[in-house]
Amino acid sequence: LDNGLGLLPQMGYNTWNDFECEGVSAKNISKVADKMVELGLPALGYEYLIIDDCWADHRGKDGKLVPDRNAFPHGMKHVADYVHSKGLKFGIYMDRGRWTCAGRPGSQGYEEVDAKTFVSWGADYVKTDSCNGPDSLEDPPSAAAIAQYQLFRDALNATGRPVFLALSGWHNWYSPYGESLANSWRIGYDVRNWQSAWNFAIRVNGFLSDFGGPGGWNDPDMLVGSSSKTAVQMTPQQSRTQFSLWSVMAAPLLLGSMLSMGHHDLETYTNTEVIAVDQDPLGIQGEIVWENCPLRKRTNIKQSQFYDEIPACQQVWARPITDGFAIVLLNLDAEKPANVSFAVSDVCWSSQAFVGKPCNFFEEASVRDLWRKEHLGIRKFINVTLARDGASQMFKIKPIIPQA
Ligand code: DGJ
Repeated sequence: LDNGLGLLPQMGYNTWNDFECEGVSAKNISKVADKMVELGLPALGYEYLIIDDCWADHRGKDGKLVPDRNAFPHGMKHVADYVHSKGLKFGIYMDRGRWTCAGRPGSQGYEEVDAKTFVSWGADYVKTDSCNGPDSLEDPPSAAAIAQYQLFRDALNATGRPVFLALSGWHNWYSPYGESLANSWRIGYDVRNWQSAWNFAIRVNGFLSDFGGPGGWNDPDMLVGSSSKTAVQMTPQQSRTQFSLWSVMAAPLLLGSMLSMGHHDLETYTNTEVIAVDQDPLGIQGEIVWENCPLRKRTNIKQSQFYDEIPACQQVWARPITDGFAIVLLNLDAEKPANVSFAVSDVCWSSQAFVGKPCNFFEEASVRDLWRKEHLGIRKFINVTLARDGASQMFKIKPIIPQA
């Protein structure tokens, strides 16, 4: 979206995985803001604190949304002011339909009022969900659904305040439309564990790299972590893999757990070299450069669609970055470890993303392990043994270009 925002994928925190409808309150938002500052997250780029569903109670006589009085006794501006006072930016959730996914009032017919209300509270970011509007599950999206998104986009633009707009439809058929509608758009249903990370993100995002770039990003959903609720969780190694892959995918880095975040996840989310991959100014989304997984098609994924079993195979993802390439070698096999040997020159393949990069001219590259934080010297191959069940390793390589 051409609003000057989203030149890099957004970073921050969203309440949904931690609280759902149970604890979205001014008190908890303050605690999260305090914790973010205490952990030094804003300085690393985690700037948005986003309130997801379940804050809205009803519409007042003036047509404006009224926050739940028990949870937000001093109103929403008060909360936004606190968030701002901590040096963070404030994000709020709405739904383009008649009510939100959790049954709170939606914005259909109130786009202008709501855009103005959010801006009057000082919102810097709005997440627009997709429940209960026209054609929520249509494929491809109907003109009515697109028009509804446009209506809110235009209402927000008309306020004059630059507000990051994050679209939350759940289907990768939004990607071709995303750039004109928003600064990011979801590509699948909710990622809550490793299985859904495969289904709604890893399985599809490799097909969508042409659509993401500065101004608008494919959004494979939030970072799950290994220390939130049992229903929303990965193993520590899967959580680290999610972070590595999301960075290579140029994905938004939205933390989904905060108050209960453990040491391992904190170490994961604060690795500045991996964050730098995600935030690389070229803004090129990575792709799969090698795999032995069964062929897949870009499928449209509906909420009700059954889960695909995670295949017992390996993939290598790569992303061109300013000074070389970032690579993630991934073992999807749930049962067995795997050896992968990857020729560094194989980061060159026919994708659009690599046009103009120094490919096909090198056999060797200097290699750095981004998790062990070690230089491995100049290599032709990267040989790794990956543990089972979503383990990965991540490297940065700088091609050695032979002098003519
Ligand atoms: C569906 C979205 O995909 C989730 O991220 C969350 O916003 C819920 N709706 C809230 O109801």
